Amino acid sequence: MYLNKQITGYLERASWIRKMFEKGRELKQKYGQDRVYDFSLGNPDLPPPPGVITALGEVKERAKQPLGLGYMPNAGFPELRERLAAFLSKEQGVKFQAEDVVITCGAAGGINALLRALLEPGEEVVTFAPYFVEYGFYAENHQGKLRVVKTLEPDFALDMEGLARAISKQTRVVLINSPNNPSGQIISEEELGKISDVLTAKSKEIGHPIFLVADEPYRFLTYEGALVPSIFKFYPYSVVVSSFSKSLGLAGERIGYVAVNPQLENKEELVNGLILTNRILGFVNAPVIGQYLLLAALGEEVDKEIYYKRRRLMGEILEEAGLNFTWPGGGFYFFPQAPDREEGKFIDSLLAERVLAVPGTGFGYPGYVRFAFCVPEEVISRAREPILRAVERLS
Ligand SMILES: Cc1ncc(COP(=O)(O)O)c(C=O)c1O
Repeated sequence: MYLNKQITGYLERASWIRKMFEKGRELKQKYGQDRVYDFSLGNPDLPPPPGVITALGEVKERAKQPLGLGYMPNAGFPELRERLAAFLSKEQGVKFQAEDVVITCGAAGGINALLRALLEPGEEVVTFAPYFVEYGFYAENHQGKLRVVKTLEPDFALDMEGLARAISKQTRVVLINSPNNPSGQIISEEELGKISDVLTAKSKEIGHPIFLVADEPYRFLTYEGALVPSIFKFYPYSVVVSSFSKSLGLAGERIGYVAVNPQLENKEELVNGLILTNRILGFVNAPVIGQYLLLAALGEEVDKEIYYKRRRLMGEILEEAGLNFTWPGGGFYFFPQAPDREEGKFIDSLLAERVLAVPGTGFGYPGYVRFAFCVPEEVISRAREPILRAVERLS
């Protein structure tokens, strides 16, 4: 009655998320928190590293200074932009200046600021499924539309012909996510080279540049020595969006950035647009305390050893259960195929064992199920028998 049609529709369509959430709450109330095995949430649970904790103590002193917690430049503290530029120069292997980066409210805020700056009404953002479910909302927030290209089974290889087919005059952005939520797969150099070839040819054909945007909040967390290649060397119209939600355990503090390819022609125009959209979308600036924390702790990370152990344990359980899956190269999710691809039956069978996971439909990839392993190792251990039983019941 009060809501516009679009939001009413979103609420209706999102009902399976609510169902999982409500089911989880109901089970926890009935059986107790520790008898429910909740792998549904991608909420990173590791505490921030020591630099963040020390800096939190120092925030008090900063707060006493004039404008210590006041408004600041919309792009973020100049000193932080400079530090971040130096950090990214190492990480991405190209030289950044402070002017190439804008501090944002997480990667989510960064993607929204970027799409607001780039999209004309009706234009499209192309992404590969499985994908982070919020992308569709982000595109539509700015009168855009998400167009989805499915990755190929069994190992989520990018479908380059599908990408070429999906691009039209309406395409403004191709949005990639590596390591991927939910599949955990990393886009290889070879794949980046091919994406770049497709986008270069298509940009020429349609008469405007297509931006390649890489969403990289899981870049820091890879397994068995895997590396995440940088997009910047491959393609000039490129932008990285990322955050410290996962790497510094700061998800609630909403701190991230947009980094524009330093070699982009007329890059000031894009950066100025981003600074404006960051402001007028109502973010104004990224949180001041988060920026102080980042100034102190940039380069530190949560204890990744914990994720390494959880991944191994979870993977072994899924193997023992006989599920088909590809080990994640990064991030903290497993995305196995549901037995007989019946994700609904699998979710119900898991629920009967008080195990919560998310159906692949939520990521544009039906027939699969996502397990987030940002839960303590002992919860994963205790979930072994219930998961085995849930699979067994279906066979
Ligand atoms: C792929 C992906 N992109 C973006 C985000 C948003 O993260 P944040 O805004 O906290 O940086 C998430 C959060 O889970 C994610 O998984």
